[in-house]
Amino acid sequence: MLTAEKISKSYKQNRRKILDSLEISIEEGEFVAVMGESGSGKSTLLAVLAGILDPDEGQVLFEGRDLYSLSDEELSEIHRRWIGYVPQSNFFLKNYTILENIVEPFLKDPSKDETELVEKAKEHLEKLGIADLSDRFPHELSGGEQKRAALARAMLTGPLLLIADEPTTGLDTETGRIILSYLSDYVRSGHSVLVATHDDHVKEYSNRIFDIKKEQQGPETGNSEGS
Ligand SMILES: Nc1ncnc2c1ncn2[C@@H]1O[C@H](COP(=O)(O)OP(=O)(O)OP(=O)(O)O)[C@@H](O)[C@H]1O
Ligand SMILES: [Mg+2]
Repeated sequence: MLTAEKISKSYKQNRRKILDSLEISIEEGEFVAVMGESGSGKSTLLAVLAGILDPDEGQVLFEGRDLYSLSDEELSEIHRRWIGYVPQSNFFLKNYTILENIVEPFLKDPSKDETELVEKAKEHLEKLGIADLSDRFPHELSGGEQKRAALARAMLTGPLLLIADEPTTGLDTETGRIILSYLSDYVRSGHSVLVATHDDHVKEYSNRIFDIKKEQQGPETGNSEGS
């Protein structure tokens, strides 16, 4: 479904390669957890795989299409229908209610009916245990409640692949479990989930751990052949 080939990435302020010729693929029905210490590049990897951060080298293929050769319009279409992405920090439009925030990105899609989107959003909020918060504004929610709202938004149209950066970090165990079992139900219904996490509980729910340090040659572990 999603395959990344020889992905490298560094940031201008910091010449070290955060991702160094990294390879990863996610198949249908998999729940993959990217783990590694803080600063190891998990968020960088997820953003590259989600199609929102251009790698310096390499390709990201989603169902065989290179995400970074698509037009903005084609990529938005992929984001609305096929790849849901939840960044590490919550992002909401502050003058919109939670329900409006969840539905808003999809209103541009002519194939989607607003009433159905609202129904679907309420279903997700209900299952995530925050149905009573739908008419509140984002700043009126706790971090964990915002996280769940962000997941509901990313899952609204049932994307084939859900990419969630630290979906349970900083949450109490019980809230974390609500989220993790929701994600594993999602996988069981034929979708794929990719998370980045420090949360060891995720291991109980995921099919595969991708240790970001072990999967690539780190900058300290030596050089690629030659001088
Ligand atoms: N926009 C940026 N500009 C410059 N450096 C960045 C930028 N984003 C991240 N970095 C650096 O890249 C490295 C990897 O960051 P990244 O956020 O991918 O790590 P992470 O594994 O997600 O960490 P955490 O577990 O703390 O979320 C860090 O050293 C970070 O300081
Ligand atoms: Mg991160």
